[in-house]
Amino acid sequence: MSDFVDKLHAIVGERGLITDAQGQHPYLTDWRDNYLGTALAIVRPATTEEVAAVVKLCAALRVAIVPQGGNTGMVGGGTPHENGHEIVLSLNRMNRILEVDEIGYSMTVEAGVVLKTIQETAARHDRLFPLSLAAEGSCTIGGNLSTNAGGVQVLHYGNARQLVLGLEVVTPHGEIWNGLRALKKDNTGYDLRDLYLGAEGTLGIVTKAVLKLWPKPKDVATSWIAVPSPEAAVTLLSGAHAASEDNVTSCELMSRQGIDLVLKHIPGAADPLAERHDWYVLLEWSSTRARRAGANETGLSEKMEGYLGEALEKGLVLDAALAQNETQARAFWGLRENHSEAQKREGPSIKHDVSVSVSKIPAFMKEGLLAMKKALPECRPVPFGHVGDGNIHFNCQSPPGWDKKRFMAHSEAISAAVYDIVVAHGGSISAEHGIGQLKVDELAHYRSRIELDTMRAIKRALDPQNIMNPGKVIRV
Ligand code: FAD
Ligand code: MLT
Ligand code: ZN
Repeated sequence: MSDFVDKLHAIVGERGLITDAQGQHPYLTDWRDNYLGTALAIVRPATTEEVAAVVKLCAALRVAIVPQGGNTGMVGGGTPHENGHEIVLSLNRMNRILEVDEIGYSMTVEAGVVLKTIQETAARHDRLFPLSLAAEGSCTIGGNLSTNAGGVQVLHYGNARQLVLGLEVVTPHGEIWNGLRALKKDNTGYDLRDLYLGAEGTLGIVTKAVLKLWPKPKDVATSWIAVPSPEAAVTLLSGAHAASEDNVTSCELMSRQGIDLVLKHIPGAADPLAERHDWYVLLEWSSTRARRAGANETGLSEKMEGYLGEALEKGLVLDAALAQNETQARAFWGLRENHSEAQKREGPSIKHDVSVSVSKIPAFMKEGLLAMKKALPECRPVPFGHVGDGNIHFNCQSPPGWDKKRFMAHSEAISAAVYDIVVAHGGSISAEHGIGQLKVDELAHYRSRIELDTMRAIKRALDPQNIMNPGKVIRV
């Protein structure tokens, strides 16, 4: 195999290759420390042509490739297996913004650009790239597109699939497909772009993308709201669409258990309200209509305040704090965005990234919480997430003092109980994180034969040697 590594070296050079154990380690494990693999090498090409040459070499030798971006995925999709027969192909050197088209509201980027850099670049051009999630400081656009990432503004702007116009992809044969078209309309046969979005690196390697941009919001209102129940949360959201004149950009639900974990583990976190409540909503409205200084007109904050006042009278709201400035809004967001980090610091947890239609959230939550407790009475449910998309992270924290092994022995029973309820409500067992290696069996169990056969047929047609992230998403 050293001959193979020499050939890789000839393609990507010294900077593009990591072969020592210490340097490889961060690429071999995942954010949650659930998986640890091994690899023949970590390969970091600097250009699409280098990616294509590496894939051609691997195809000739039937060496499997695990594409990797920021390695923030939640389902082990970017982690190699333990067999040591794979390479990790990291896109983290391909991190250039190639073009910002202000007139056409688009941006062309390489796959390894960190999401936050894209957001900041858009903002400098008075534009918005609306994909936003807690991992935005380290996840890459290639990973976002390959997982069809969701985040906190999907209810207004859509998920990653809706934010992209064109792609460049290196196929499993090492060919370069140039689909970098900035077209809003293109009905020329099957949509190849949509195949690669959400494919988790199993069909090819995304090397570049043309992203859509939006006008930058000029007026933003953010509230931290205590509500009596998830039912009140969805009713509050339902009315907010009209009350905000269709400007609801985020609606996140949290429980007291989650807030307590954030307050315990995240330095500087503070509860915005004086009393403790069981459920919270973070509601954000954004508009591109700027408030004119000194003008006597109602901005989004006043509108939101009025709406929350009415909701208080109806019993939908128990208490609320409206952010008075950006610092306060950021503090509210910190309480929400630090849930995953706080859960990680608290100890082992089981994640259920599920979705049902928004109106079914209350029934699902009620049944799901009972089922979780029945499966393991000592467990600590930590449900939170994107209630505006019907996407709840129906997570389960280990009982205090339990080690990972003892807790994970119950994971199959807990997850099956939760997923059966999700599916009974017509929902999805993976709303935004994908399948990776974590949910391969669940996908096989819950999707229909025709869906699985079609997915397998696509995988075999595009990657006949099964070298592109094998064992992830679907077994062939
Ligand atoms: P990686 O983790 O490196 O890879 C993810 C998958 O994509 C793997 O299967 C990998 O093989 C493949 N891949 C990566 N790059 C490419 C490429 N260029 N071409 C082909 N395949 C590729 N996700 C959400 O959807 N919504 C959230 O709100 C959210 N919140 C998060 C919060 C935290 C704190 C963390 C740690 C994660 C969160 N995630 C969330 C999950 C994760 O951040 C997203 O899935 C993100 O899109 C992954 O990007 P990445 O660059 O880290 O990809
Ligand atoms: C988030 O929305 O913060 C993450 O997707 C949730 C998680 O870590 O379960
Ligand atoms: Zn999420």
